[in-house]
Amino acid sequence: MDWTKASVLVTGAASGMGRAIALAFAREGAFVCAADVNLGAAEATVDAALQVGGRALALEVDVARRFSVAAMVERAVAACGRLDVLVNCAGVIGYMPALELTEAEWDRVLDINLKGTFWCCQIVGAAMVASGTGGAIVNVSSISAELPEPDCVHYGVSKAGIAHLTKSLAVALAPHRIRVVALAPGTIRTPMNADVLDEPGFIEGRLKVIPLRRIGVPEDVAGAVLFLASDHAAYVTGSTLLVDGGTTLLR
Ligand SMILES: NC(=O)c1ccc[n+]([C@@H]2O[C@H](COP(=O)([O-])OP(=O)(O)OC[C@H]3O[C@@H](n4cnc5c(N)ncnc54)[C@H](O)[C@@H]3O)[C@@H](O)[C@H]2O)c1
Repeated sequence: MDWTKASVLVTGAASGMGRAIALAFAREGAFVCAADVNLGAAEATVDAALQVGGRALALEVDVARRFSVAAMVERAVAACGRLDVLVNCAGVIGYMPALELTEAEWDRVLDINLKGTFWCCQIVGAAMVASGTGGAIVNVSSISAELPEPDCVHYGVSKAGIAHLTKSLAVALAPHRIRVVALAPGTIRTPMNADVLDEPGFIEGRLKVIPLRRIGVPEDVAGAVLFLASDHAAYVTGSTLLVDGGTTLLR
């Protein structure tokens, strides 16, 4: 797949998987718009992309705010001409027992993970329709969409919502040759979960439910995103790809 004429917008590109995804596309020669609420760290991703010979631009966005997403897309289209790929990777997690979960915490996680993913799909989708050249949207979900976790029910609900959103938008955008897919990572070491992974005994316990017997790395996810966004996945839409080392087989 030749990515050198493609433009890719990655949200959450300042850290973890989003950063690895942005760098993977940059290495392939795509123009990468690296968007994040943390502009300084997004600029560091861009610096790293330039170092691997890529072309990239940092954009500030709060995906939970529709006006902010619209401004990001306007700037991205102005810089690239059109967008071929959107990767919705921005996200947050929070831990709070179900019976103590507050409205503020529910709204924080749902607004960023679910509403934010929808605004990005809607506004980038409209830009892709306007350009008339098709495209691919990859939404980062989680195995938490399927597996109950009573201390982060709001996170699981936000990711389960992404699965439905992905199916509905896949149907809505198919006439415009735009594919919408989701990817559900298992346990991947990133700044989001470094504290939890470093708790004594956590990794030993987790490895018992991962058939491939290792914690994932952001590059595991980046490789799967490259596939889903590429023409190799031209007949894939609406589905969710598990990238979990087999975790859902044992848990
Ligand atoms: N790490 C895991 O094990 C794991 C597993 C399954 C799913 N995920 C999902 O993968 C995605 C990436 O997570 P990660 O592990 O790389 O975490 P991370 O914390 O390293 O990266 C998340 C990025 O999202 C950005 N972000 C947060 N709120 C934002 C907002 N309102 N607008 C724009 N950007 C915002 C952060 O600044 C950060 O750069 C998330 O959606 C997460 O839920 C992670």
